[in-house]
Amino acid sequence: MPARLTILGLETSCDETAAAVVELESDRLRVRSNVIGSQVDVHAPYGGVVPELASRAHLERLVPVIRRAIDDAGTALESLDAIAVGVRPGLIGSLLVGTSAAKSLAWSLGKPFLGVDHVAAHLVAARLDADPIPLPALGLVVSGGHTSLFLMRDALTLDPLLRTPDDAVGEAFDKGAAMLGLPYPGGPEVERLAADGRADAVAFAVPKLDFSFSGLKTALLYEVRGVPARASPNAPPAAAAGRRAVAPAVPFTEARRADLAASYQRALVKAVVRGVQHAWERIVDASSAAPRALVVGGGVAANLLLRQEMAHFALRRSIELRIAPLPYCLDNAAMIAGLGALRAARGERDPLDLAPQPRSALR
Ligand code: KG4
Ligand code: ZN
Repeated sequence: MPARLTILGLETSCDETAAAVVELESDRLRVRSNVIGSQVDVHAPYGGVVPELASRAHLERLVPVIRRAIDDAGTALESLDAIAVGVRPGLIGSLLVGTSAAKSLAWSLGKPFLGVDHVAAHLVAARLDADPIPLPALGLVVSGGHTSLFLMRDALTLDPLLRTPDDAVGEAFDKGAAMLGLPYPGGPEVERLAADGRADAVAFAVPKLDFSFSGLKTALLYEVRGVPARASPNAPPAAAAGRRAVAPAVPFTEARRADLAASYQRALVKAVVRGVQHAWERIVDASSAAPRALVVGGGVAANLLLRQEMAHFALRRSIELRIAPLPYCLDNAAMIAGLGALRAARGERDPLDLAPQPRSALR
């Protein structure tokens, strides 16, 4: 591989069709173009992502998005040194579109092909157009599909420390938004509504150790709709049918909605912080090499409260906070190209029969 490496990255795992050109030189990743074709218009009427529509929209949008990424970077396909694509995790039909395009380009241009893990790429987002990260580091991915914490031994070696046993935090934001009558995508809507509410209005019970969010979702549902009527423990489930839920104690006014959004957001963020804190304590107790940085990526890393809490966490422990800049939090192809470039620089490449996978290989 040359001393300076230019790579095209493609991202089609869910509802963004994205392409980017990134350059790696002297261990620095420079973003030369970053194009994202959002599909919000396609899925918004359904209140969430419709997989079949997503893959069709990727098919229609990918080629123009690639053309723009190449033009914006002021380069040509022939000048690229490698092609990278997110091959897992994601919606399988959507992943197939990006993977097939990347393989065709790599084959026709005679360049190396790299299929990268989208979850690992979210942690590369924090070092795009920035200094390399001091290692070892804690790496936290907070997205629509993942809430996972890793020990980053080097840029590409991630040891899993903790992951949610149920829903991801982004999904908890999205489902909470739906309960509060907010449109898709829900995370930014909850954040917006929360700005008008009181975070201490409802004391949700926050899980301490394990990034679990399902209890918080149920608690929010009960605050909105009331607690369901309970049958006696021995009665068949049908016995509860027809009974009315106990109405919520507080009427569902505009002010109440904002209070619930603010309290729910605080509880979700607190649950993330507590999980990281728990893992931190275990690591620092067990090893002499304490992490030197906290790296945060994924769509929920765009949340201001989470950013503030993470900054606080890092400051108290005198470690560096490396949180992805806002444009690179949500799904993008620059992070895919960045991870691909780091692998290509090590001489790695993948075979053209590498298959996309719905799940991440990182546990
Ligand atoms: O990383 P991402 O773009 O896609 C996945 O890999 O899943 O993350 C999307 C998630 C969605 O659940 C979205 O609601 C959430 O990130 N999100 C936010 C914010 N912006 C996006 N959650 C809370 N606050 C935000 N500002
Ligand atoms: Zn993502």
